Amino acid sequence: MSATSVPAETALSRDGPQAQTAQARRGSLEVRNLQVVYGSAIEAIRDVSIEVEPGQIVALLGSNGAGKSTLLKAISGVLGEEEGKIESGVISYDGVDVTARSADEIVRLGLMQVPEGRRLFAPLSVDENLDMGGYIADTRTLAKRRAVVFELFPRLAERRRQISGYLSGGEQQMVAIGRALMAGPDFLALDEPSLGLAPIVIEQIYAVIRRLNRDLGLTVLLVEQNAQRALGIANYGYIIERGRIVFDGTAAQLEKNADVREFYLGVSGSGQKSLRDVKHYKRRKRWLS
Ligand SMILES: Nc1ncnc2c1ncn2[C@@H]1O[C@H](COP(=O)(O)OP(=O)(O)O)[C@@H](O)[C@H]1O
Ligand SMILES: [Mg+2]
Repeated sequence: MSATSVPAETALSRDGPQAQTAQARRGSLEVRNLQVVYGSAIEAIRDVSIEVEPGQIVALLGSNGAGKSTLLKAISGVLGEEEGKIESGVISYDGVDVTARSADEIVRLGLMQVPEGRRLFAPLSVDENLDMGGYIADTRTLAKRRAVVFELFPRLAERRRQISGYLSGGEQQMVAIGRALMAGPDFLALDEPSLGLAPIVIEQIYAVIRRLNRDLGLTVLLVEQNAQRALGIANYGYIIERGRIVFDGTAAQLEKNADVREFYLGVSGSGQKSLRDVKHYKRRKRWLS
């Protein structure tokens, strides 16, 4: 990654064990023909291929139950915790096949997930939750990363000794992102960071996501039901329905597309129909564009 816009003191992704040897920019992800089942019966991901290039913000959009979280769990190696299994397909991160790697190994490679619903250790303080994310680094590195987290989220500095379970939803989301940053990732996968938050808080969280990408060079995969918000900061987007990618394109292409506008941006207000059900929807567009 380029050092031009990044002051050394705040470069989260440059202090990891891998930073010294890295020539090429880190944070590329490729998912090819992925199929995931739960309990050997429910096919949550049917055939998904996506690509995220280093330095991009890519949005993964879809309604409830479409398979967004399952895809993120597969990428982060945590499917096994829920009896999910990759049946076929390949996931590679920075050229490494991580399809069968453990969650721990994937974190060490630089890919970190901020799970849906924050998943904090509620009885522990903000500081203690941040520590949980930084378990693979030394004390000096952790102190530097913590300073970056508090710079991004000054509110957390004020509340560092408070019990996380008593924080507001927005503050908990900040802790969840902060905890992920403590691992010094190059790639951040965020699962519905805006869920249940007030518009003004979403604004703050999104401003930070943008800074993580622009100032710190992190690659971001942003899972959202909130298509409008996500496309507002994304370079590229995929729309997933019932375990399949049904549309993809630049953020501008997605925002312009009549069907995407109707079904994901609520422009016409007709709501619940699916892109796959629209008669005039031309799947060929994907291959022609
Ligand atoms: N742990 C699980 N066990 C069984 N089925 C699951 C599990 N998690 C999710 N599913 C099913 O997989 C599908 C995709 O879910 P999910 O990935 O959570 O969707 P999304 O995040 O887009 O809302 C849904 O049909 C859901 O019911
Ligand atoms: Mg989900």
